[in-house]
Order: sequence, then structure tokens, then C-alpha cells
Amino acid sequence: MNLDRLTDRRGTASLKWDFQKRLAGQEGLLPLWVADMDFPAPREVLAALRRRVRHGVFGYTLEPESWYQAAADWTRARHGWDLRREWLLACPGVVPAINLAIQAFTAPGESVVIQPPVYYPFAECIRRNGREVLENPLRLQGGGYTLDLEHLERSVTDRTRLLILCSPHNPVARVWRREEMEGLAEICLRRGLIVVSDEIHCDLVLPGHCHLPTALLSPQLAGRTVTLLSATKTFNLAGLGGSLAVIPDPELRRRFRTAKEALWTSVANACSVVSAEAAWRHGAPWLEQVLAYVAGNYRFLKDFLKASLPAAGVFPLEGTYLVWLDFRALGLSDAELKRRILHQARVWLDDGPMFGSGGQGFQRLNLACPRAVLREALERLARVLS
Ligand SMILES: Cc1ncc(COP(=O)(O)O)c(C=O)c1O
Repeated sequence: MNLDRLTDRRGTASLKWDFQKRLAGQEGLLPLWVADMDFPAPREVLAALRRRVRHGVFGYTLEPESWYQAAADWTRARHGWDLRREWLLACPGVVPAINLAIQAFTAPGESVVIQPPVYYPFAECIRRNGREVLENPLRLQGGGYTLDLEHLERSVTDRTRLLILCSPHNPVARVWRREEMEGLAEICLRRGLIVVSDEIHCDLVLPGHCHLPTALLSPQLAGRTVTLLSATKTFNLAGLGGSLAVIPDPELRRRFRTAKEALWTSVANACSVVSAEAAWRHGAPWLEQVLAYVAGNYRFLKDFLKASLPAAGVFPLEGTYLVWLDFRALGLSDAELKRRILHQARVWLDDGPMFGSGGQGFQRLNLACPRAVLREALERLARVLS
């Protein structure tokens, strides 16, 4: 696959490319914001979809056993984690599953911990369900982010029920290490918190780093954890939807299932099922190529910024394809930073403050695009910021 080639996504109802006027107030922007890739899916996925489309009937669908098996085989091969069939519940997406967990395990008025800056729907889901957001901001020290375990310890109250962990962490691109996660696990177990571990980025890990599934930390923690997985981020299938909740504990699973059944979300998307299964079974070489390309884009970005916009800080890319950029040294307000990037450079990034506390002065840039698109975006940014 030639990843340097730009596939024109305009006219496909692409959130990233086609809704600029509606979502960003103007057109002609170079979009490097929302977390999908500009690359076509693996060819085995396209072939499976073609076969399915050729069949022509798209009635109500369920996830077949082969779909669960493909997910389990992938997770064992990739992460050394054996998923038992009875632990697995199919869901329409990861964010819907987060909502279900909030509804299943907390009551209105209770609090849910998140660790900003973090994927912004976490806070939205908590608030829109009438629960309280308890922020345990990441600690930024020595040029890197860590979990703030002391602050967590101090902040949890007897009304705190749940902690949503983003692992790997979007937007700061950390792949959490065992020692960090052990500290977190210890607090969660001692304080009786249930962990929702959003591991949608778990396959997008750069060389030299290794994703550790939260549930593998200890059997005790596995019994308090809901892990959310999906083929959609890994293989760029977000427009097809679908996810998997892994819940080893029978009582937590029963409560989650009750919330799920109340929504009547027991019907699958016919194309989602077919594409995810083909991706898990045949997508590994495609993923390796994409990860190598993203790593190359990251090196390109670092070199470019060092030479042409040295005031911009770049955080290490351990996981995800989203790089977290620090523009604080420019001394601009967030409104001015956004004005220059969006209106002058006409580049569409995700604004740091959207990700909650600690996002001020930062921007998130999506590296899963052809290098020429990245180069163009960086040249435009350098013109308005240097
Ligand atoms: C951490 C995280 N969770 C969930 C999602 C979206 O999940 P879904 O599309 O399955 O709802 C994203 C998408 O960017 C994400 O970054």
C-alpha cells in the first residue's frame, strides 16, 4: 500500500473533510484533527466488505461467534491476554460503552475520575448522565506526563465509584508502564473503584513501547475492570462502528448487560461485523506498515519543528497517532493561537483546552496522513507562528 498517496475523502460524508463549514465555521481547511486516518483499510477488509455488499441483503445482524473468536485470537497474539467468551459483550462503539458503564455502575450525583488532558467525550458522558467529573490531572514534569497518584488518593471520596483510564492515553500519547499502573490499581482496589479501561488505541503502539492491558495487572483488578476494545481505531474503520466490552466479573457483567439491554442495542451493523473480523484475522501486516509510516511522520514533524518552529514543544509519541504539541512558549492566548492556526494557517487541529485541565496552550495533531499533507500543514503553521 502506498501511504504517500492521498485518497480524496471529500464527498464521502467524512467528518474530518466534509463538514468544515458546519463544524469549524469555514471551508478550505487542511484537517488534522479528529482521530481517523486518511489511509484506506486493509485490502482483506475491502474484499470481505465487497463480498458482503455483493450479497445485497442487509437485514438485522448479530455478531457471529467467529467475530468473538477473531477478537480473542487477535488479543492473545498481540497482547498476550486470553479473553474468555463469556466475558465479552458486543457494543455499538467505545463511547456508547462508556455511557453504559456510567449508567450501570454509578448513580446520579456520584463522581467519576478522569485524568485530563484526556479525550473530551469522557467528561461529556459523565456530565450528560448527571454524574460529577472528578479531575485527577496528569502531572507534567521533566518533559513528560505521569499519573498523579497522590492527588488521586486525596481526591477520591466515598461518592466516587468509577475511574476511566485512557490506555494508551489520548491526547498525550503515553503508553502507561507497569509501575505506574500498579500504583493506580492499588488505589482503585483499596478505594473500591471500578475501572473502565478505554484501550481503543492499544494496537497503535510505537516501537520500544508495549501496551499492558489493565486487566492483566492482577486477577483482583481484572475483577473490577471493564475493558473496551475495538477494531475501528486500529484499522481505520470508525465509520462502521462497533466495540467490545470485556468484563470478567459476573456481577459487573450482569449490571452492564442490564444497562445495555435497556437501550435495545442488541443489533449489530452488518458491515462492522464483517470488516472487524477480516481486520483482526488479516490486518497485522497493514498495521505494521501504518505504524512505521506514522513513526516516520513523527520524526519528520520533530525535525521540521526543530528547524522551523523551535518554540513548539513536542511530546514523545509512545502510542496513538496523535501528537501533543506545546505552544505555551509563544505566549499567545488560546483564542489567539486558535485564530492563527485555524483562520490564518487554515489548518484544523484539535484545540488543547477541549481536553480539559492542562490543555491550555496545547494543540493535538493527527499524524495518520500522507507525509505531503503533514508537510503542508507544518509549513502553514510555521508561517503564522514563528
Ligand atoms: C480514547 C478514545 N476512546 C474512544 C474513541 C471513540 O470510540 P468510538 O468511535 O468507538 O465511540 C476515541 C476516538 O478517537 C478515542 O480516542
